[in-house]
Amino acid sequence: MKGVLLAGGSGSRLLPLTKVTNKHLLPVGKYPMIYHPLYRFKQAGIVQVLIVTGREHMGGVVSLLGSGGELGMDLTYRVQDEAGGIAQAVGLAENFVGGDRFLTLLGDNLFEDDLSGEAAAFIAQSEKARILLKEVAEPRRFGVAVFDGEGNLTGVEEKPAEPRSNYAVTGAYFYTPDVFAVIRSLKPSGRGEYEISDVNDHYIAQRQMTYGVLQGAWQDAGTFESYPRANELARDWELDF
Ligand code: DAU
Repeated sequence: MKGVLLAGGSGSRLLPLTKVTNKHLLPVGKYPMIYHPLYRFKQAGIVQVLIVTGREHMGGVVSLLGSGGELGMDLTYRVQDEAGGIAQAVGLAENFVGGDRFLTLLGDNLFEDDLSGEAAAFIAQSEKARILLKEVAEPRRFGVAVFDGEGNLTGVEEKPAEPRSNYAVTGAYFYTPDVFAVIRSLKPSGRGEYEISDVNDHYIAQRQMTYGVLQGAWQDAGTFESYPRANELARDWELDF
Protein backbone atom coordinates (compact mmCIF):
# COMPACT_ATOMS: atom_id res chain seq x y z
CA MET A 1 0.00 0.00 0.00
CA LYS A 2 1.17 3.54 -0.72
CA GLY A 3 0.65 6.77 1.23
CA VAL A 4 -0.40 10.28 0.21
CA LEU A 5 0.24 13.02 2.75
CA LEU A 6 -1.54 16.32 2.16
CA ALA A 7 0.41 19.33 3.38
CA GLY A 8 -0.86 22.08 1.08
CA GLY A 9 -3.64 24.56 1.76
CA SER A 10 -3.20 28.18 2.71
CA GLY A 11 -2.95 27.83 6.50
CA SER A 12 -4.92 31.08 6.67
CA ARG A 13 -6.64 30.12 9.92
CA LEU A 14 -3.26 30.21 11.70
CA LEU A 15 -1.99 33.56 10.39
CA PRO A 16 0.48 35.13 11.19
CA LEU A 17 2.10 31.86 12.38
CA THR A 18 1.89 30.64 8.77
CA LYS A 19 3.02 33.84 7.07
CA VAL A 20 6.56 32.65 6.29
CA THR A 21 6.27 28.93 6.91
CA ASN A 22 4.04 25.99 6.07
CA LYS A 23 1.48 25.07 8.75
CA HIS A 24 2.79 21.51 8.74
CA LEU A 25 6.26 22.65 9.82
CA LEU A 26 4.97 24.29 13.02
CA PRO A 27 5.91 22.46 16.23
CA VAL A 28 3.48 19.94 17.72
CA GLY A 29 4.90 18.29 20.82
CA LYS A 30 8.60 17.61 20.20
CA TYR A 31 8.31 17.46 16.40
CA PRO A 32 7.27 19.42 13.33
CA MET A 33 3.55 18.73 12.77
CA ILE A 34 4.17 16.71 9.59
CA TYR A 35 6.20 14.07 11.49
CA HIS A 36 3.04 12.86 13.23
CA PRO A 37 1.12 11.61 10.17
CA LEU A 38 4.43 10.41 8.63
CA TYR A 39 4.98 8.27 11.70
CA ARG A 40 1.52 6.70 11.42
CA PHE A 41 2.35 5.72 7.83
CA LYS A 42 5.65 4.15 8.89
CA GLN A 43 4.01 2.31 11.77
CA ALA A 44 1.44 0.86 9.36
CA GLY A 45 4.25 -0.37 7.10
CA ILE A 46 3.61 2.30 4.45
CA VAL A 47 7.02 3.76 3.56
CA GLN A 48 6.41 4.96 -0.01
CA VAL A 49 4.70 8.30 0.55
CA LEU A 50 3.88 11.20 -1.77
CA ILE A 51 3.83 14.60 -0.06
CA VAL A 52 1.60 17.23 -1.70
CA THR A 53 2.28 20.81 -0.70
CA GLY A 54 1.87 24.35 -2.00
CA ARG A 55 4.45 26.20 -4.07
CA GLU A 56 5.40 28.81 -1.44
CA HIS A 57 6.73 26.39 1.17
CA MET A 58 7.81 23.31 -0.76
CA GLY A 59 11.45 24.29 -0.12
CA GLY A 60 11.03 24.16 3.65
CA VAL A 61 9.29 20.78 3.52
CA VAL A 62 12.02 19.28 1.31
CA SER A 63 14.77 20.80 3.51
CA LEU A 64 13.23 19.12 6.52
CA LEU A 65 12.49 15.67 5.10
CA GLY A 66 14.66 15.21 2.00
CA SER A 67 14.42 11.73 0.50
CA GLY A 68 13.00 10.40 3.76
CA GLY A 69 16.03 8.12 4.12
CA GLU A 70 16.83 9.35 7.63
CA LEU A 71 13.35 8.28 8.73
CA GLY A 72 13.47 4.96 6.87
CA MET A 73 10.95 6.24 4.35
CA ASP A 74 10.88 6.79 0.58
CA LEU A 75 9.39 10.23 -0.07
CA THR A 76 8.21 11.81 -3.33
CA TYR A 77 6.86 15.36 -3.75
CA ARG A 78 4.23 17.14 -5.83
CA VAL A 79 3.26 20.79 -5.91
CA GLN A 80 -0.39 21.87 -5.68
CA ASP A 81 -0.29 25.33 -7.29
CA GLU A 82 -3.37 26.65 -5.51
CA ALA A 83 -5.38 25.33 -2.57
CA GLY A 84 -8.24 23.93 -4.65
CA GLY A 85 -9.40 21.42 -2.07
CA ILE A 86 -8.46 18.11 -0.53
CA ALA A 87 -9.94 16.09 -3.41
CA GLN A 88 -7.92 18.12 -5.92
CA ALA A 89 -4.76 17.44 -3.90
CA VAL A 90 -5.51 13.68 -3.86
CA GLY A 91 -5.98 13.85 -7.65
CA LEU A 92 -2.32 14.87 -8.02
CA ALA A 93 -1.31 11.43 -6.75
CA GLU A 94 -2.58 9.48 -9.77
CA ASN A 95 0.79 8.68 -11.40
CA PHE A 96 2.44 7.99 -8.05
CA VAL A 97 -0.29 5.56 -6.96
CA GLY A 98 -0.38 3.57 -10.22
CA GLY A 99 -2.42 0.41 -9.63
CA ASP A 100 -2.01 0.27 -5.83
CA ARG A 101 -4.42 0.83 -2.96
CA PHE A 102 -3.46 3.83 -0.84
CA LEU A 103 -4.05 5.72 2.39
CA THR A 104 -4.35 9.52 2.40
CA LEU A 105 -3.65 11.37 5.65
CA LEU A 106 -4.21 15.07 6.22
CA GLY A 107 -1.00 16.71 7.41
CA ASP A 108 -2.69 18.59 10.24
CA ASN A 109 -4.34 15.53 11.81
CA LEU A 110 -2.94 13.74 14.89
CA PHE A 111 -3.91 10.12 15.43
CA GLU A 112 -3.14 8.34 18.69
CA ASP A 113 -4.10 4.98 17.16
CA ASP A 114 -1.72 2.74 15.27
CA LEU A 115 -3.42 2.50 11.85
CA SER A 116 -1.99 -0.94 10.93
CA GLY A 117 -5.24 -2.78 11.70
CA GLU A 118 -7.25 -0.36 9.58
CA ALA A 119 -4.81 -0.75 6.69
CA ALA A 120 -5.13 -4.53 6.93
CA ALA A 121 -8.94 -4.25 6.99
CA PHE A 122 -8.86 -2.16 3.81
CA ILE A 123 -6.54 -4.59 2.03
CA ALA A 124 -8.92 -7.42 2.90
CA GLN A 125 -12.17 -5.71 1.81
CA SER A 126 -13.66 -5.75 -1.68
CA GLU A 127 -15.26 -2.29 -1.36
CA LYS A 128 -13.33 0.60 -2.94
CA ALA A 129 -13.08 3.00 0.02
CA ARG A 130 -12.83 3.18 3.80
CA ILE A 131 -12.98 6.16 6.18
CA LEU A 132 -12.18 6.49 9.87
CA LEU A 133 -14.66 8.17 12.22
CA LYS A 134 -14.28 9.59 15.71
CA GLU A 135 -16.97 10.64 18.17
CA VAL A 136 -16.45 14.32 19.04
CA ALA A 137 -18.17 16.99 21.12
CA GLU A 138 -18.33 19.64 18.36
CA PRO A 139 -18.91 17.88 15.04
CA ARG A 140 -19.93 20.95 13.03
CA ARG A 141 -16.27 21.91 12.39
CA PHE A 142 -15.78 18.68 10.41
CA GLY A 143 -17.19 16.35 7.82
CA VAL A 144 -19.95 14.54 9.74
CA ALA A 145 -21.26 10.99 9.22
CA VAL A 146 -24.99 10.42 8.68
CA PHE A 147 -26.54 7.07 9.69
CA ASP A 148 -29.95 5.50 9.11
CA GLY A 149 -32.01 4.07 11.99
CA GLU A 150 -30.12 0.77 11.75
CA GLY A 151 -26.64 2.26 12.09
CA ASN A 152 -25.78 2.07 8.38
CA LEU A 153 -23.69 4.92 7.00
CA THR A 154 -25.88 6.81 4.51
CA GLY A 155 -23.81 9.93 3.80
CA VAL A 156 -21.32 12.54 4.96
CA GLU A 157 -22.03 16.25 5.29
CA GLU A 158 -19.24 18.83 5.19
CA LYS A 159 -19.40 21.22 8.17
CA PRO A 160 -23.22 21.02 8.62
CA ALA A 161 -24.94 23.74 10.66
CA GLU A 162 -27.00 21.00 12.33
CA PRO A 163 -24.92 17.80 12.52
CA ARG A 164 -26.94 14.59 12.31
CA SER A 165 -24.46 12.58 14.41
CA ASN A 166 -21.47 13.16 16.70
CA TYR A 167 -19.15 11.21 14.42
CA ALA A 168 -16.55 13.34 12.64
CA VAL A 169 -14.91 12.07 9.46
CA THR A 170 -11.21 12.19 10.31
CA GLY A 171 -8.46 12.99 7.84
CA ALA A 172 -7.66 9.35 7.02
CA TYR A 173 -9.06 8.01 3.76
CA PHE A 174 -8.38 4.65 2.10
CA TYR A 175 -8.99 4.44 -1.66
CA THR A 176 -8.31 2.31 -4.72
CA PRO A 177 -7.09 4.00 -7.95
CA ASP A 178 -10.77 4.16 -8.98
CA VAL A 179 -10.91 7.39 -6.95
CA PHE A 180 -9.14 9.38 -9.68
CA ALA A 181 -12.07 8.96 -12.07
CA VAL A 182 -14.44 10.02 -9.27
CA ILE A 183 -12.34 13.15 -8.58
CA ARG A 184 -12.39 14.07 -12.28
CA SER A 185 -16.20 14.02 -12.20
CA LEU A 186 -16.49 16.45 -9.24
CA LYS A 187 -17.74 20.03 -9.40
CA PRO A 188 -16.34 22.67 -7.01
CA SER A 189 -18.41 23.34 -3.89
CA GLY A 190 -19.91 26.66 -2.77
CA ARG A 191 -16.53 27.61 -1.25
CA GLY A 192 -14.83 26.86 -4.58
CA GLU A 193 -13.04 23.68 -3.47
CA TYR A 194 -13.08 20.08 -4.67
CA GLU A 195 -14.43 18.43 -1.53
CA ILE A 196 -13.31 15.07 -0.21
CA SER A 197 -16.78 14.70 1.35
CA ASP A 198 -18.25 14.58 -2.19
CA VAL A 199 -15.88 11.72 -3.04
CA ASN A 200 -16.89 9.86 0.12
CA ASP A 201 -20.59 10.50 -0.49
CA HIS A 202 -20.19 8.98 -3.96
CA TYR A 203 -18.75 5.76 -2.53
CA ILE A 204 -21.44 5.57 0.16
CA ALA A 205 -24.17 5.91 -2.51
CA GLN A 206 -22.48 3.14 -4.55
CA ARG A 207 -22.28 0.89 -1.43
CA GLN A 208 -18.51 0.89 -1.87
CA MET A 209 -17.62 2.48 1.49
CA THR A 210 -16.75 0.88 4.82
CA TYR A 211 -15.74 2.65 8.01
CA GLY A 212 -13.78 2.14 11.18
CA VAL A 213 -14.08 4.04 14.46
CA LEU A 214 -10.88 5.31 16.10
CA GLN A 215 -10.34 4.09 19.66
CA GLY A 216 -7.58 6.52 20.67
CA ALA A 217 -7.54 10.31 20.68
CA TRP A 218 -7.77 12.28 17.44
CA GLN A 219 -7.12 15.97 17.04
CA ASP A 220 -6.70 18.37 14.14
CA ALA A 221 -4.26 21.25 14.52
CA GLY A 222 -5.36 23.81 11.95
CA THR A 223 -6.96 26.57 14.05
CA PHE A 224 -6.03 28.62 17.10
CA GLU A 225 -8.53 26.55 19.09
CA SER A 226 -7.25 23.15 17.99
CA TYR A 227 -3.51 23.86 17.69
CA PRO A 228 -2.87 24.16 21.47
CA ARG A 229 -4.97 21.02 22.04
CA ALA A 230 -2.83 19.14 19.53
CA ASN A 231 0.30 20.27 21.36
CA GLU A 232 -1.16 19.11 24.66
CA LEU A 233 -2.07 15.69 23.22
CA ALA A 234 1.35 15.10 21.66
CA ARG A 235 3.44 16.74 24.40
CA ASP A 236 5.11 13.52 25.54
CA TRP A 237 4.89 11.49 22.34
CA GLU A 238 8.18 9.91 21.21
CA LEU A 239 8.10 9.08 17.49
CA ASP A 240 10.45 6.13 17.15
CA PHE A 241 10.83 6.00 13.34
O1 DAU B 1 -9.57 17.43 10.01
C1 DAU B 1 -10.57 16.67 9.42
C2 DAU B 1 -11.40 17.51 8.46
O2 DAU B 1 -10.52 17.97 7.40
C3 DAU B 1 -12.56 16.69 7.86
O3 DAU B 1 -13.50 16.36 8.87
C4 DAU B 1 -13.26 17.49 6.76
O4 DAU B 1 -14.26 16.69 6.16
C5 DAU B 1 -12.25 17.92 5.71
O5 DAU B 1 -12.85 18.73 4.71
C6 DAU B 1 -11.12 18.72 6.36
O6 DAU B 1 -11.64 19.92 6.84
P1 DAU B 1 -10.75 21.25 7.12
O7 DAU B 1 -11.57 22.46 6.88
O8 DAU B 1 -10.12 21.10 8.46
O9 DAU B 1 -9.64 21.14 5.99
P2 DAU B 1 -8.40 22.12 5.74
O10 DAU B 1 -8.76 23.07 4.68
O11 DAU B 1 -7.90 22.65 7.06
O12 DAU B 1 -7.30 21.11 5.17
C7 DAU B 1 -6.88 19.98 5.88
C8 DAU B 1 -5.52 19.52 5.37
O13 DAU B 1 -5.56 19.26 3.97
C9 DAU B 1 -4.44 20.54 5.62
O14 DAU B 1 -3.52 19.96 6.51
C10 DAU B 1 -3.81 20.82 4.27
C11 DAU B 1 -4.46 19.87 3.30
N1 DAU B 1 -4.94 20.56 2.08
C12 DAU B 1 -6.10 21.31 2.13
C13 DAU B 1 -6.58 21.97 1.02
C14 DAU B 1 -7.85 22.77 1.07
C15 DAU B 1 -4.22 20.46 0.90
O15 DAU B 1 -3.17 19.79 0.87
N2 DAU B 1 -4.69 21.14 -0.21
C16 DAU B 1 -5.84 21.89 -0.21
O16 DAU B 1 -6.20 22.45 -1.26
